[in-house]
Amino acid sequence: MNNSELQQLRSQAVPRGVSATAPIYAARARNAVITDIEGRDYIDFAAGIGVMSVGHCHPKMVEAVKDQAESFSHTCFGLTGYESYVRLAERLNRLTPGDFEKRTFFVNSGAEAVENAIKVARYATGRRSIIAFEDGFHGRTHMTLSLTSQVDPYKVGFGPYASDVYRIPYAYCYRCPLALTYPACGCECAALLQNAFDKQVSADDVAAVIAEPVQGEGGFIVPPPEYMGKIKKICEEHGILLIADEIQSGMGRTGRWFAMEHWGVAPDIVVTAKALGAGLPIAGVTGRRDILDTVHPGGIGTTFGGNPLACRAGLAVFDIIENEGLLERAMTVGERIRNRFEAMQARYPAVGDVRGLGAMVAMEFVKDRETKEPAGDLGKAYRAKLYENGVVNIGAGTYHNVIRILTPLTVEDSTLDRGLDIMEQTMAQVS
Ligand SMILES: Cc1ncc(COP(=O)(O)O)c(C=O)c1O
Repeated sequence: MNNSELQQLRSQAVPRGVSATAPIYAARARNAVITDIEGRDYIDFAAGIGVMSVGHCHPKMVEAVKDQAESFSHTCFGLTGYESYVRLAERLNRLTPGDFEKRTFFVNSGAEAVENAIKVARYATGRRSIIAFEDGFHGRTHMTLSLTSQVDPYKVGFGPYASDVYRIPYAYCYRCPLALTYPACGCECAALLQNAFDKQVSADDVAAVIAEPVQGEGGFIVPPPEYMGKIKKICEEHGILLIADEIQSGMGRTGRWFAMEHWGVAPDIVVTAKALGAGLPIAGVTGRRDILDTVHPGGIGTTFGGNPLACRAGLAVFDIIENEGLLERAMTVGERIRNRFEAMQARYPAVGDVRGLGAMVAMEFVKDRETKEPAGDLGKAYRAKLYENGVVNIGAGTYHNVIRILTPLTVEDSTLDRGLDIMEQTMAQVS
């Protein structure tokens, strides 16, 4: 079958609600290149939404999964335990920020991890309300959609949503919610959390604040360095837990194991997924022992969570990141992308902002640099053309006007540069 035949079959077998950015079908993938069923190579600047940080088919990961498949593929950890689950939990406990005793359990997806973090936070505090952020994304299950901010395409038509969820603006400096400028603003937007206790919900009712340290889906929005520390301090003053959603920003993507480390903030609970399993579905909920251990035996769990194949993949991922220096590599990759994006910003007025942290780098498109009116149409056209030109890519932003790079951290310089050349040539085509 070729791509168009498969696309035709897909339209008869898969609902249109499942997004289909481009009509290409993968045959194989190695490191940062995906080859489609017609033999065409694509540079992978999306890594399956930030999952393949160690590259496609890393031999160590393949070996670990093969070995596990030949031993056993499932027992359900709650019924019959196995070492890889415990070892992976240990590893996350050690590497997530916070010099305190921790516990970790595993589920299958990012959304499921967020759901469970909320469950545990409510259980441990005896409180019901959750505060999330504008432009935040936490998944597509019912509770996580309630936490997610972006309406189109995620929330439109899927309500009603869970109660006791409140939302405040994030520190989106390019579009400051207070119309101020950093650093003169003194990071005043953190006080909007305090403000919410007067105008939205009593602090005594709030179990947790959930934040992405760098907003992913929102468009790689990086808060000022002091922002998360201020949020944590307000939480502590009111006995509120801080949940860091590190599903996209964690596991080395920003040049540290977890993005919160950049600002010395230790959240009470950290959720991980995506790159943790390098393509095998796994997500972790890691948190302070005194919080995680409050839940009674049997109160948390799932059939597949922490599946042995996925745990072995997770252990391989930690080894690969450590042994191949991928935290340092994330910084180099990020710098290379940022330099090229800044050069594009100097040339094309439509590039309103270039921002990021480590290897999370994005460009935001605007119709006018003064008004900053979002250029969603340009974002979509650019992305489609990039696919045509051989780059698998991913957009972001509430107004679909951001392009973000989530390439494998193992990408070779030559592949990265080729992809960035194509991005520049494509910009010239669509501008
Ligand atoms: C920050 C963040 N949280 C949660 C999720 C949901 O993860 P999943 O798609 O694995 O349910 C995502 C997915 O993109 C994410 O980026």
